[in-house]
Amino acid sequence: MDYQKILNTIHEDTSYHNAIGKVASYIPELAKVDPKKFGMHLYCRNSGHYSFGDSQEKFSIQSISKVFTLTMAMQILGESLWERVDVEPSGDPFNSLTQLEYEQGVPRNPFINAGALVIADILVSNLDDPKNDLLEFVRKLSGNNEINYDLKVAESEKSTGYRNYGLVNYMKALGNIKNDVEPILDFYFHQCSLTMSCEELAKAFMLFANEGKLLGTEEKIISKERVKRINALMQTCGFYDEAGEFSFEVGLPGKSGVGGGIVAIHPSQFSVAVWSPILNPKGNSELGMAALEKLTTLTGFSIF
Ligand code: DON
Repeated sequence: MDYQKILNTIHEDTSYHNAIGKVASYIPELAKVDPKKFGMHLYCRNSGHYSFGDSQEKFSIQSISKVFTLTMAMQILGESLWERVDVEPSGDPFNSLTQLEYEQGVPRNPFINAGALVIADILVSNLDDPKNDLLEFVRKLSGNNEINYDLKVAESEKSTGYRNYGLVNYMKALGNIKNDVEPILDFYFHQCSLTMSCEELAKAFMLFANEGKLLGTEEKIISKERVKRINALMQTCGFYDEAGEFSFEVGLPGKSGVGGGIVAIHPSQFSVAVWSPILNPKGNSELGMAALEKLTTLTGFSIF
């Protein structure tokens, strides 16, 4: 498979000029990002890595971080995690509050904001320094110690994060949040502010394409059984109320963020990250989805 040739074709055929969406603006700091940025990086399980465009430039990974925190929480709590958060697609926007009322404060899945806030609560309960532990975990997965939080982005979201304050307070009222709301939101806003490049993200997500092992050293980080579950959740819930569309167009487990990043994996072939900050109305990268649709069509590698 000539991945570089396929990536070059995707680059040539996916034009910024055809995009109709907008860069995220509800987090003021994200509105400053250049909408023309576009990059992609693919790590193959057997043979090297391939890229185009701004694949080495760092951007705000936002909700992609929810896959890292879920992995940490599964390692800590095992099966009892699922008493606090469900594993069903929500069919609602990522920051919706409505289902919480009639589902007694148990979020539909760990990737909508409500679910990620419960995961944040679990990490705050179980770790002495969750922000530092998350950094160390992500640095280990990507083999790069230069991964950091963007404190301006974290602060910017804190100053406008009314929905997340609403979600966590409401779940606390319903008994599914154990800590004070401030340390949970502080951790959550920091996890979303992690900045990584497509190259770093694709490398870190090889874990989910390589049976829970690091690429290269083959060090075991999580069990195959947990990888299966995380990939299933990415497939069914990774794109919120667009999870069906992503399965339909792309056919891979993946996770998006409002910084314009998307990471997707093929369970035995590759891990791929793409970044274009222009979002569609559901909050997912417009060109990112188009690029991944071309990737699975041209390679024939989707899970379907
Ligand atoms: O909590 C928020 O609204 C953001 N920090 C993350 C949302 C996000 O990335 C949704 N994904 N497409």
